[in-house]
Amino acid sequence: MHFFEYRNGELYCEEVRVKTIADEAGTPVYIYSARTLQRHYNVFKKAFAKTKPLICYSVKANSNIAVIALFSSMGSGADIVSGGELFRTKKAGIDSKKIVYSGVGKTLREISYALENDILMFNVESIEEIDVINSAAGRLGVKAPVSIRVNPDIDPFTHPYISTGLKKNKFGIDIRYAIDAYSIARAKPNIRIIGIDMHIGSQLTDVSPVVSALKKILKLMKELGQRGINIKYMDIGGGLGITYKDEKAAHPERYAGEIESTLKGSFDGTLILEPGRVLVGNAGILVSRVLYRKDNGSKRFMIVDAGMNDLIRPSFYGAYHEILPVHKAAQSRLVKQDVVGPICESGDFFAHGRSLPVLEREDLVALMSVGAYGFSMSSNYNSRTRAAEVIVNGSDYFIVRKREINNDLIKGEQIPSFIKVRSKNA
Ligand code: LLP
Repeated sequence: MHFFEYRNGELYCEEVRVKTIADEAGTPVYIYSARTLQRHYNVFKKAFAKTKPLICYSVKANSNIAVIALFSSMGSGADIVSGGELFRTKKAGIDSKKIVYSGVGKTLREISYALENDILMFNVESIEEIDVINSAAGRLGVKAPVSIRVNPDIDPFTHPYISTGLKKNKFGIDIRYAIDAYSIARAKPNIRIIGIDMHIGSQLTDVSPVVSALKKILKLMKELGQRGINIKYMDIGGGLGITYKDEKAAHPERYAGEIESTLKGSFDGTLILEPGRVLVGNAGILVSRVLYRKDNGSKRFMIVDAGMNDLIRPSFYGAYHEILPVHKAAQSRLVKQDVVGPICESGDFFAHGRSLPVLEREDLVALMSVGAYGFSMSSNYNSRTRAAEVIVNGSDYFIVRKREINNDLIKGEQIPSFIKVRSKNA
């Protein structure tokens, strides 16, 4: 459910015409609906009303500080994976005691930064990381709060690039060695064990892999308890999927229901959840303008002004995003066409052979459900300035990230003196 809809053939975001934003802010532009973000957060929170978990929004899904701040204002914490994400969450006003830090490659500098900021816990992903956290904490004279990210070896049945809880994946510590990892951590003077963590993958439409993993974690927790290691926080990650096309993604109510009934009577600490996509995915669209059309005799192309640098999901995962004309003509013939961007790669496409109306140059199209892993995965490839980001709130809209300008592209670059710059225009 989201607040993008047609009114008299014109696409609206809440009370604002999408065309108005595109004309004023330019294209390509990401547009997020505040009402949709709020609604998704509330639905998710309400689904877990029994367990009252700590919801740590997974910042990587959409890292704009306005989006983070909006969730923060609703009580959310954050799941981070880098020092940069910690910086963003601080700017957005997230309480440090609601921040959990995952990731297989935390650097010493990032670990120290997180310790200085007194975050809730580190989700540790290797034995070597335990050592580094221990010495960083020793240097700062603090005890680092730690949970071990356990790899439960469960197939989440999702795209292989976003499956994380299988033994062959780089994430977490193999469940068979988890007890050893906890024992090692317990022996460290500057480490305080407080939790257990898992995250098995993303865009999960079915809850059963989560339940299977959870059962393994509960069994492990019991064994830890017998060894005197008590777990206060159980972080079960994120991963709940959304509907992009015809997937039947589990509703948060069902997700919560199955998790709560699995935990019932077996865990009385604090549950932590790290939802990303389910909160932001359907709350964002990418609006792009048609630059050219062409027909090579056997195929028709629609070339738009957004490229794979703006939205990489179709190229990278073969992901499907619905494409809608911003102005729906009363009668329009559907024709199969490829929707492609301006980048010099054949992989730069948004759709292949999609049945769409024949649009004119300058017409606008909306790529739907790009609020998660859209802008946050964008780049400057082909030296393209990154898109603007806008949030709509009722009948108002706000630019929450300015479109980049050419000078942003060369920020930090310099030509060393041994190279003689020839043109006077430089
Ligand atoms: N927690 C951890 C430790 C994660 O690694 C992730 C996502 C999440 C939570 C949030 O997962 P979500 O609720 O959003 O599924 N770029 C890919 C998705 C990568 C997910 C990475 N980790 C995509 O565009 O589909």
